[in-house]
Order: sequence, then C-alpha cells, then structure tokens
Amino acid sequence: MRRGVSNIVTIFYAFSKMFTVLFIICLRVAFSASDESDLGYSLSIGNAINVFANYGDLSQVTQVISADYDDDEDEFPEPFSEKNIKVFLNVSSKETLGEDRVEMNILLCETFDELLDGYFQNFQIEGTDKPWKAFMGDWIQDEIMRTLGIDVDIARDNCCYVLLKLSKVHKTVKIDSLEQVAVKSYVEKAMSAMNGSDVADIRKFMRSYGTHYIDSYVTGNFVYQVFKFKRYGYNMLRSYVRDQKHHTDNSDRLRSHFASNFLRQVGDIRLASGNKTIEAWARRNLLDSQYLYYRPSLLRLFYNNALILSLNRMLDDGALLGLSLKTLAPLFKDEEKRRKYVEVVENDMKLWEVNA
Ligand SMILES: *[C@@H]1O[C@H](CO)[C@@H](O)[C@H](O)[C@H]1NC(C)=O
Ligand SMILES: *[C@@H]1O[C@H](CO)[C@@H](O)[C@H](O)[C@H]1NC(C)=O
Ligand SMILES: *[C@@H]1O[C@H](CO)[C@@H](O)[C@H](O)[C@H]1NC(C)=O
Repeated sequence: MRRGVSNIVTIFYAFSKMFTVLFIICLRVAFSASDESDLGYSLSIGNAINVFANYGDLSQVTQVISADYDDDEDEFPEPFSEKNIKVFLNVSSKETLGEDRVEMNILLCETFDELLDGYFQNFQIEGTDKPWKAFMGDWIQDEIMRTLGIDVDIARDNCCYVLLKLSKVHKTVKIDSLEQVAVKSYVEKAMSAMNGSDVADIRKFMRSYGTHYIDSYVTGNFVYQVFKFKRYGYNMLRSYVRDQKHHTDNSDRLRSHFASNFLRQVGDIRLASGNKTIEAWARRNLLDSQYLYYRPSLLRLFYNNALILSLNRMLDDGALLGLSLKTLAPLFKDEEKRRKYVEVVENDMKLWEVNA
C-alpha cells in the first residue's frame, strides 16, 4: 500500500440480480498504421509524451478532476488530450472492459498532502513518487481545494480528510510485453544520432520523442466528495474501519461516523469528468438530513439502490481513472545511452518536483 494513505476501504456494490455483469478480455495487436497517425492527441497505448511539456498542469490536458475551466460546458470531455507520438512499431496490449457496477472507495488521509496522494493513487509516473505534482503542482492551494470541492479552512489545521469515491470503470488497457517489440525507424535514427554525453542533446531528444510512454490506462468516471474531520472524529472512524472486516451490511454505523459533530466541513460532490448535469443531480438527490442544514452527501447512496442505479447509468467514460507512465528506457539498445537518458529524465523530474 502507498505510504501516504493510511487506510483504504473498498466496498463493492454488486447487485447481481439488477446488473448484468460484463467482463470481456480481448487481445489486440496494433500494427503501425500510416505515418500521419504517428503524432496525435488521443489516448494511445504505448505512445510517448514529454511529461515536462505540461508538468504541474497535466490535469489541464487530462480529465482527472472537476476543474472549472472556461471551455464549453456542453463539450464532451476527453480523458486525455496531451500531444503524443508513436515510438513502438508493433506493441500489443490487453483491453479489459469494466464491470457494469459502481465501486465505492473510502480513503482516510491524515493530511492534505496525503489527500492529494490518495486522489492520484492510480496514477504512476516512473521517476517520481509524487505524481499529483505533475498534474496540479503549479496550482495554488486554494485552487486545488476548490477543485476538490472544499473551502479554505479558517482554522488552517492540517487534519484530517476523508475522500469518498464512487467509480465505474469503462475499460483498462495495458501493454502486454515489450520483448520482441520493434521501435519505429525514425526513433531508431534519432537515438543513434543522439550524443549520450551531451545533456542538451538528450533534452532535445526528450522534447522531440518524449520522456515516458503510456504503459497502461483506465477510463471511466467517478463521483467524489471530501469530508474534513475533527481529529477525534477521524480517530473514531479510523478505529471503526480497522476493527471491522466489513462490507455494506453495516452501512448505518458507518454513516453515523459522518455526523456533524465529527466534521469541520462537508465538501461539494464533484464528477471527475466535470459533468455539471450530474453534479446538479447529486446536489438535488443526495440531500442528507443528518446535518444541521440538509447537505448533499454521497453516503445517501449507501442505503438507496434506486439512487445508485441512476448514478450507475449516468457514469460514462469521460474521465481518466488511472495512468501509468514509464520512461523510454526500453527503447535504447545502447546501454550507455540508456543509462544517461534515464539519469537526465529522473534528475529533471526531481528538479521539477521540488519547484512545483
Ligand atoms: C515486431 O516487429 C519485429 C520486426 O519487424 C519482429 O521481429 C517482432 O517479432 C515483432 N513483434 C511482435 C510482437 O509482433
Ligand atoms: C558529445 O558531447 C560531448 C560533450 O558535449 C562532446 O565533448 C563530444 O565531442 C560530443 N560527441 C560528438 C560525436 O559530437
Ligand atoms: C453529462 O451527463 C449526462 C447524464 O449522463 C449526459 O446526458 C450528458 O451528455 C453529459 N454531458 C457531457 C458534456 O458529457
């Protein structure tokens, strides 16, 4: 388990009678198409991106969080729209369709930093253990909090946050194996021309052909809500979670841990895809009476099958739920060049991370 996140509870909603379970695995071998399709902006497994092109603001070119950008609200979100280039000639990948159900995750986070680690737990970028910084490191904290649906706290203390997430996976795509995979000839040429002792030359290669390739990704959508807890309420919830190997049967007791007196703030409900229609639906339909004023709460979904079925119908594939990026190291056959290349990429990652 990732260090930053103290506790993760996963509760599955599987209404076997109501939901037909769909689980298809198919093997796809993608062969290089025409050359004009080598450069693009859509999500293509195995393609390379330069993580430094949008470092600190990757969430602008990926749909990972409900940010209020100025773009047209009616436009369908693209899970991924960062410039990428085909570097492998014949990479094969495995595609798994998600099951038609909603999965609930409860993440218990001691600090705001852990909350960010937890939010991005399904995102990996080789060379860093703080992937959230690549996605929103350039944002000011108030802006990040607004995006997470919470207000800046006057108390300014750093305890404690609980993130509720109900997600539906559309599909998972993962590279099979890089053994036997050939590299595109223009990349081969650029690699042999690259001077491995010249950092500037390595950086030039990074700008043209990228730093990381897409090793796997998950698309789908999820709804999320952050609760800011008082310390004692948080500790009680944590021991409740520890003591039980529980599943949905005891939902009322779990819900009681989210009562007003344990909380400092109840965050807004947000959609990862940024869909304002569904956010408005949640505000109308998920009002919970256990707060002084009625507040929308995802916990309502715990004991209302009709609501969870409606949500299940609405969750589409507009968001990126997970992404794994690996350095282009496997492309290099020349061991010395590979070593230098990885060294420069990882050094630069550290520099950007410190400055984000
Ligand atoms: C990819 O292409 C290379 C060269 O054309 C070939 O040797 C290799 O077997 C191919 N690999 C796969 C997985 O098709
Ligand atoms: C490679 O770069 C190093 C360091 O900048 C330089 O000394 C060397 O002459 C370069 N080699 C070639 C073949 O250009
Ligand atoms: C938002 O979600 C609703 C309900 O699923 C859907 O009808 C609508 O097309 C979505 N809008 C966008 C912009 O994705």
